[in-house]
Amino acid sequence: MKILANDGISKSGKETLENAGFEVLAVNVAQEQLVTYINQNKVSVLLVRSSTKVTKEVIDACPTLKIIGRGGVGMDNIDVDYAKSKGLHVINTPEASSSSVAELVFAHLFSGVRFLHDANRNMPLEGDSNFKKLKNAYAKGIELRGKTLGIIGFGRIGVATARIALGIGMKVIFTDPFLDEATVTVPFFDNRSISFDLSSTPLENLLKTADFISLHVPAQKSYIIGKREFALMKDGVGIVNAARGGILDEVALVDALESGKVAFAGLDVYESEPIPELRILMHPDISLSPHIGAATEEAQDRIGLDLASQIIDLYK
Ligand SMILES: NC(=O)c1ccc[n+]([C@@H]2O[C@H](COP(=O)([O-])OP(=O)(O)OC[C@H]3O[C@@H](n4cnc5c(N)ncnc54)[C@H](O)[C@@H]3O)[C@@H](O)[C@H]2O)c1
Repeated sequence: MKILANDGISKSGKETLENAGFEVLAVNVAQEQLVTYINQNKVSVLLVRSSTKVTKEVIDACPTLKIIGRGGVGMDNIDVDYAKSKGLHVINTPEASSSSVAELVFAHLFSGVRFLHDANRNMPLEGDSNFKKLKNAYAKGIELRGKTLGIIGFGRIGVATARIALGIGMKVIFTDPFLDEATVTVPFFDNRSISFDLSSTPLENLLKTADFISLHVPAQKSYIIGKREFALMKDGVGIVNAARGGILDEVALVDALESGKVAFAGLDVYESEPIPELRILMHPDISLSPHIGAATEEAQDRIGLDLASQIIDLYK
């Protein structure tokens, strides 16, 4: 049984599949060669991340395919309904990267409250000639402990973000139209854990009371955060978007940063990805990362192992 892992697979996932008797072809076949390669090698399982497109045409042209697997959450690159209508199994690994994204949110938050994103830009330029000036410029940091984090969208990543926040002593509030109550369990290193019962609050209330806001909703038809929502926020709020470009109005964000309404923003995703606006890239109050929320070694391991175990179960 052959598996084509076209956008890569972790060593642990590959080994698990090989130990179960599968042959794993960990190569990167160009999109236009994909159908030929699958047919020539009689591939049964096609594993992809976000790059390879598994369209209706690919599905129709590859009769040996039985399973399509997506390492990660979004299935935008797979014609899922069509694949299922043709009797194929479509699997993904929605849980595997939640804590990786949550940690990146905190990387941005910790950076924002201590100006690290800006200090890292200016220290190489002036750290030796203007140390005292920079020390003064970045002297008014604040702490996260004791502050309120407002989480918009309380699914897998929202909850993972809440766990870290609770663990460092923040108060957590959330809004989610599909969820009224949630119990969040924070696990510690020695297998102890503490559970917190939280209730959803209307978006408007969250915007008015949160010291920091983190977005964790799926793609939306329109902005979740725009001019009106920024106006409702506390002065000096920090905001992080590691969910999707297009849910946060970047023009309104720059205005809110410039007026001082928002103290800093952390962005992992962009409206005009993969070519973010220069005004965003150059802004001194924005901590930037290039859509790497899920990109940790541990997440890749969990993704590979999760896909492997689902494939092994399907072939049992
Ligand atoms: N930065 C990255 O690399 C990265 C990696 C993985 C996922 N993501 C993104 O993170 C986001 C969240 O992923 P997840 O796995 O937690 O999804 P999820 O489906 O588990 O959770 C999303 C939650 O948002 C809620 N929601 C939907 N519309 C809402 C609205 N208008 N207001 C408030 N809540 C709303 C849903 O009820 C759900 O509870 C997605 O947009 C996903 O694409 C980013």
